[in-house]
Amino acid sequence: MTQFKGSHILSVNQFDLDSIHTIFSVAERMTPYALREKRTRVLDGAILGNLFFEPSTRTRVSFGCAFNLLGGRVAETVGMAASSLSKGESLYDTARVLSTYSDVIAMRHPDAYSVREFAEGSRVPVINGGDGPNEHPTQALLDLFTIQKELGHAGRGIDGMHIAMVGDLKFGRTVHSLSRMLCLYKNVSFTLISPKELAMPDYVIADIENAGHKVTITDQLEGNLDQADILYLTRIQEERFPSQEEANKYRGKFRLNRSIYTQHCKSNTVIMHPLPRDSRAQANELDNDLNSHPNLAIFRQADNGLLIRMALFALTLGVDEQLEQYECPV
Ligand code: CP
Repeated sequence: MTQFKGSHILSVNQFDLDSIHTIFSVAERMTPYALREKRTRVLDGAILGNLFFEPSTRTRVSFGCAFNLLGGRVAETVGMAASSLSKGESLYDTARVLSTYSDVIAMRHPDAYSVREFAEGSRVPVINGGDGPNEHPTQALLDLFTIQKELGHAGRGIDGMHIAMVGDLKFGRTVHSLSRMLCLYKNVSFTLISPKELAMPDYVIADIENAGHKVTITDQLEGNLDQADILYLTRIQEERFPSQEEANKYRGKFRLNRSIYTQHCKSNTVIMHPLPRDSRAQANELDNDLNSHPNLAIFRQADNGLLIRMALFALTLGVDEQLEQYECPV
């Protein structure tokens, strides 16, 4: 990806190492604005169309707050029932109309490739906030940004690291996007831990192997965590299953708590999860008894999401060099 201004952000396949470096360096420059130490009105007068046709807490609100923190305003559509999509209007028509009202659009939708279809009708940049089980590129960027920071504190890097991904690797779009992004790096070892029925799709494994990375596939948690620099947990994506009963077969199969972590992981293994974690007793894949553990990076991931989304707005709207010029008193 050589040019951000005016571009859609639909898939991690768009990025190369240079573009990731650009996004991360703009994200770092967003820190004082996110912390309210400085204020900029660089997007004064601009409108974000924030279209969420699937439930979300972090992605929807952080897109909105990121835009507000750059001085812009947000127009929200939440839920399919609140949109004329529920009357049979096409994604193309919806995009043609809404892209007149907005300068940029963030969108989440339950169907794979729906955001790409929407983007074909849009006259402004569209950012994929998650399209069904397919991709979640902004989550992958914030995950990678977090991994780089967490390992960097210990003088380590992404090249040569070992990541264990655990849980619903079939429907978990965050692990699909993150795995593909890691294909840009060297000598990454993957341990993929899931029930056999919820294994990582073959096409993602093929991408990982074609990048020269080592892959171990297992359905056992204990005994497979001892090499992991990053332990990336996911919940069972129950909304993608044909029935709740089917999803319940897998909920609670893998649980990480302080005792298992202490026994089976290295002392510096970083614990990540895209959130939400399913904290109901039947699932509880990441126990609250790790909440105060310094290696638990899940809330730092969410914090980093704000920086990454601010950076993507600044880049796609071409204002990343003007932040300081539009500063105003805090
Ligand atoms: N990580 C993530 O996508 O969270 P939300 O579903 O709350 O947006």
